[in-house]
Amino acid sequence: MAAEVPLVDDEYVMEIEEARQELRGMIVEKQCAPIMLRLAWHDAGTYDRETKTGGPNGSIRLEGEYNHFANRGIKAAIDLCEEIKEKCPKISYADLYQLAGVTAVEVTGGPTINFVSGRKDSSVIPPEGRLPDASQGANHLRDVFGRMGLNDKDIVALSGGHTLGRAHKDRSGFDGPWTSNPLTFDNSYFIELIEGEKTGLLKLPTDTCLMDDKVFRQYVETYAKDKDTFFRDYAWSHKKLSELGFIDHPDETQENTYDSSFTSITILIGVVITAAAVGLVAMIWS
Ligand code: HEM
Repeated sequence: MAAEVPLVDDEYVMEIEEARQELRGMIVEKQCAPIMLRLAWHDAGTYDRETKTGGPNGSIRLEGEYNHFANRGIKAAIDLCEEIKEKCPKISYADLYQLAGVTAVEVTGGPTINFVSGRKDSSVIPPEGRLPDASQGANHLRDVFGRMGLNDKDIVALSGGHTLGRAHKDRSGFDGPWTSNPLTFDNSYFIELIEGEKTGLLKLPTDTCLMDDKVFRQYVETYAKDKDTFFRDYAWSHKKLSELGFIDHPDETQENTYDSSFTSITILIGVVITAAAVGLVAMIWS
């Protein structure tokens, strides 16, 4: 079936703003921020940049996709969004779900994520198995997020989305929240990750691998110490995720070598060279 391209005119933009207000009210009233964020992520997270299939295109509204194992429990969020869709019929499901995701983050105290509308709806269901498997590790995360065109920094920043919500035994088989305030969006996911097992909070294998991998771990440590940096990076990675296949962002997949010691070494080399040059000039003059 052909994808419907929404015409983003004044009326469309007005409906987006109306939907945003409706979503704010609904998320506060029903305390459904976690599942709304998960809906947005699962619609987007099927993207394959090679074939340009999947992604934030609203296809998760279809039974064939929301019945995938990874999407257990997500129908509740689809039904809540349907109430908004009835009031704002012009906007695409794809935009609505991504708007629900950014609103969930904002309403729970997280960063404001720039939202651009105009995503097309698709009725093509991506193959099952494109979303990450929580029982695996770092290589798997790099495979899955790399397929979407996302890098190491995106993986760690977006994993911080687990600051919200919890796992349910009857959905994923895992149980419990990642943080002690699962309705507050902050950097506590990373603080708990560093605290380790002793807090009794949830740690999936895909969470603990962020501590075991040298590159991932540097981001975890930065975000645990510095909430502002986490919010800045999260907002950017979330925007990229929400725009996969819709708006092109420069290919950052090679930008995987975050290393603060690099900066220190560069400064040190600079200082040594300057000192040597000054010494040389002094010798020539004397
Ligand atoms: C890194 C790979 C990821 C894996 C393996 C993973 C896996 C899971 C699992 C197993 C659950 C529990 C589902 C349940 O039992 O109800 C869950 C919940 C959740 N995930 Fe993820 N996830 C990942 C990434 C993300 C990302 C990128 C976001 C958003 C930016 C996110 C947001 C959430 C939220 C908000 C919940 C809680 C849902 C609720 O409370 O109902 N996850 N995830």
